[in-house]
Amino acid sequence: MPTKVELCKAEEVAAGTALRVEAGGVTVAVFNIDGTFYVTDDACTHGPGSLSEGYIDGDVIECNFHNGQFDIKTGEVVSPPCMIPVKTYPATVENGVVVIEVD
Ligand code: FES
Repeated sequence: MPTKVELCKAEEVAAGTALRVEAGGVTVAVFNIDGTFYVTDDACTHGPGSLSEGYIDGDVIECNFHNGQFDIKTGEVVSPPCMIPVKTYPATVENGVVVIEVD
């Protein structure tokens, strides 16, 4: 059964930035792209990089370790050396709080 997990207040994540959150047994990066929230695993699939500390360019996140890139909305790899997509979580905002569902 999926469990709803409250991550943070929407106002904590300014547009064009990301926030690392540990909650509900997952560690994720919460992205605000032009007022819409997207959530991915924080851990880069290539190594020790933390995607919330990467560089956001539109809807692409560039890992600050080896500059691999992912599509924030889909998790697909945009640029190597990453090979494996990063997990994404459908996110909603409920009463000003960013919420995901975790299996
Ligand atoms: S750890 Fe992210 S690109 Fe290598």
